[in-house]
Formats: sequence, C-alpha cells, structure tokens
Amino acid sequence: MSDPITRALDALRRECIDEAGEGALADYIPELSRADPSQFGIVLESHEGDAYAVGDATAPFTIQSISKPFVHALALEDLGLDAVYARVGAEPSGEPFNAISLEPGTGRPANPLVNAGAILTTSLVRGGFERIAAGLSAFAGRPLEVDEAVFASERRTGDRNRAIAHLMRGAGSLRGDVDEVLDTYFRQCALIVTAADLAVMAATLANAGRDPVSGARVVGEETAQHVLSVMAMCGMYDSAGAWMLRVGLPAKSGVSGGVLAVSPGQFGIGLFSPPLDATGNSVRGVLACERLAARFGLHLL
Ligand code: DON
Repeated sequence: MSDPITRALDALRRECIDEAGEGALADYIPELSRADPSQFGIVLESHEGDAYAVGDATAPFTIQSISKPFVHALALEDLGLDAVYARVGAEPSGEPFNAISLEPGTGRPANPLVNAGAILTTSLVRGGFERIAAGLSAFAGRPLEVDEAVFASERRTGDRNRAIAHLMRGAGSLRGDVDEVLDTYFRQCALIVTAADLAVMAATLANAGRDPVSGARVVGEETAQHVLSVMAMCGMYDSAGAWMLRVGLPAKSGVSGGVLAVSPGQFGIGLFSPPLDATGNSVRGVLACERLAARFGLHLL
C-alpha cells in the first residue's frame, strides 16, 4: 500500500468505520438481509484504467438500483433521447425509490431512476434480459451473472413493483407484458457485481462511454453525458439534493449497499457497505463520498 491514493482511501475507510452512524440492512427483499454488515470496500478507477482498492473490493453483491442508469443508457442507445424522454421523464421527483410516481392522466413516470421509471425503461430496451446482461457486462468489462436466490426472493415479494407496473400498464404508459417486464427488471437488479466492478462501470461513464482498461466503446459520448445528467439529478432519490450539495458528483445507490460516483473526465468510484440510511443509501458509502469530495475538491460546481 505504498501509493498515496491507496493510503488515502484506506485512511478514509477506517475513519468511516469509526464515525459513520448506524444503518439497517434492506429486508423487504428477504435474501438481502443475509448480507454481512461489516463488509466495506472502496475502489477508485481512473479514466485511464488504474485501479486503487481497499477493503472488501471483490466481495459480491447484487447491483439492484445501480443497474438503472446503465439500462437507461441502453434505452438511449436503442431509441435516442427524444423517444426515451417521450416515455419516461428526467425529473428529480424528490420521492422515495418505491414511490407510485406517475404523471396524472398519462401514467408516464417523471423520474427515470425510481422503480417506476426504471421498470418502464427496462421495457424499452431491445433484446430483453440477454441484451441488458450483455450491456451491463460491457460496462463492467467482464461477464456478470444473476444471483438466482436474490432474483427469486424479489420476484416472490415484489408486490409493490408489480402494482406500479400494473398501474402503468393500465394508464397505457407501459406497453409490454407486466410479468415479462418485471422478470427482466428483477433479473437486472440481481446481477452480481463487486465494488471493483462498480468502479469500472463508473470510470466508463467518466471516460465518456469508453472502457478505461480496454479502450473499447461501450456507449456513445452523448449517451454517457445524458446518463450522468440524470444521475446528478435523480441518482440518490429523496436525498439527491443533499447529495448534490455535499458531494456534487453524479452518483447512484442500490439497496444492497452499493454506491457508484463519477468524476467526469477523471475517475469512477465504487463502494460497498450494506447498512442503509432511511432513504435507502449506504451509510458508510455516503459518508465516504462526502469526505472524499471535500478532501480532494471533487465537487463539480
Ligand atoms: O426494485 C427494487 O425495489 C429493488 N430491486 C431495487 C431498489 C433499489 O436498489 C433502491 N436503491 N436504493
């Protein structure tokens, strides 16, 4: 651990273990409550593909909502901005991730990163789950697999998402078959990643859509820019405003404890620590990003 970046990340990790408040494991998807709350990994990946990892950088967990911006990217690649925007808005609705957040009359979800908007976005991607798995794997630079136990657990208990999807279908905003779309959505959320994978995915966005390690183009530059815009506004749900004030970077969290943040043109960060705050964001992950941003002047504004 001789390089200064790894040393700084390690000091930050220790600090967050000592100083972060309490959190709770997500249990509305029963399988997620089996996570080890002490696991904590932080990985920074530069836009040139240099990785700096501390703690549980390779511990596997399911990607959950962090899949949403990447699936949004695939929909943008398939349909273009206008067609996607006609079906799902890009507004920070300030609501929880599981809100029944639909525009009156049309049933169009206003926020693309809460469950309603993300389920609709999943229905827009051509090629179903195979394409989504291949697309997210391309972002991660390695093939990602599904955690079948987590998929089955969410499928068994996902009544709220099912209800939201039926409301959208009833209003005419969701055009696909509800069960098929939800199976694809639950599978995308159950893809297994590590903090190191999240860092590569984030660095691919930081690098304007090119894999920082291989240089391969994953999505177009405009798509990467649109996705980062949406993450900046909507990535942290009802704490998106507080996050933008304190951290000032596009980011996305998930209920399994992952957090991903992007410093455009510079690097991506992937974090994993399962205990969550009341808005469903990793307690240690959020604190680590706040301190990292303050210490290294990362805030974009
Ligand atoms: O749809 C759900 O509820 C989960 N599969 C994902 C939610 C999630 O990760 C929200 N993030 N904080």
